[in-house]
Amino acid sequence: MSNISAPEQNASPDPSGSGDALLDISDLTVHFRPGGRRIDALRNVSLTLGRGEFVSLVGPSGCGKSTLLRVVAGLHNDYSGTVTIDETIREQSLGFVFQRDALLPWKTVIDNVATGLQIRGVGKAERRDRAREMMDRVGLAGFENAYPNQLSGGMRQRASVARTLVYRPSLILMDEPFGALDAQTKGQVQELFLSIWDEMRPSVIFVTHDLAESIYLAERVIVMSGRPGTIKTELDVDLPEPRTSPFEIWKDDKYLSLHGQVWDALKSEIEES
Ligand SMILES: Nc1ncnc2c1ncn2[C@@H]1O[C@H](COP(=O)(O)OP(=O)(O)OP(=O)(O)O)[C@@H](O)[C@H]1O
Ligand SMILES: [Mg+2]
Repeated sequence: MSNISAPEQNASPDPSGSGDALLDISDLTVHFRPGGRRIDALRNVSLTLGRGEFVSLVGPSGCGKSTLLRVVAGLHNDYSGTVTIDETIREQSLGFVFQRDALLPWKTVIDNVATGLQIRGVGKAERRDRAREMMDRVGLAGFENAYPNQLSGGMRQRASVARTLVYRPSLILMDEPFGALDAQTKGQVQELFLSIWDEMRPSVIFVTHDLAESIYLAERVIVMSGRPGTIKTELDVDLPEPRTSPFEIWKDDKYLSLHGQVWDALKSEIEES
């Protein structure tokens, strides 16, 4: 394990003693000072993520969810507290999927999907093979030579997911990745993503405003308070495995009870924000 930044505050290599954790965040506090005004984005956030664990993060708009992901990714280094992450992850094996697909419009879909492999020095023939295989896996076979503007929104988002999964990251940070999709497409992409996750078992932090999605996908739902974001509560999602389709899960009493619990934790935060 190594600390990813703010070394002066973080002498211990594994301050929580969290054993096999892939990521350990302890007392993370972030302020911004736009135009001299102080915004407290996150306060004393502590969170541990195990290897292969899938957690979702819900909370009111502006409570610091994206900021939290950016700190973990090493994109924002001005914070106090400790963020301890397995050393190999930061260098090679971290994936980030954003709400809007970040495909390069001048590259074909297959070249977009292969980008992460190219950056990691994989040779051309192998990266095209692996990109083609992953495109097939997410239902994009036949669109290898299309350009992003020739795909539907759902297809573009599947291409974005493929672009991340193709290099098999151990940790994937997802910031409302399916937020812009219509309900049917979203359900299909969720189901697909969950089945690939089950095969590859990366650790995932998945930010969403969709409570059904937060429960359907994750093993643990973390509910944050309004700004400054703190962790309000965590709920284990003990639904029977393998999970039924997102279109059917609302028939499950356990799911309904969890949905009620997540909403109960969240509603006062939304009302106050
Ligand atoms: N680079 C920045 N400069 C100044 N303020 C920022 C910056 N990034 C985030 N903030 C502020 O920090 C707070 C948290 O922002 P963040 O984007 O993390 O929220 P969020 O929980 O992801 O919200 P949403 O659900 O709307 O995406 C907000 O008040 C935002 O205005
Ligand atoms: Mg955000």
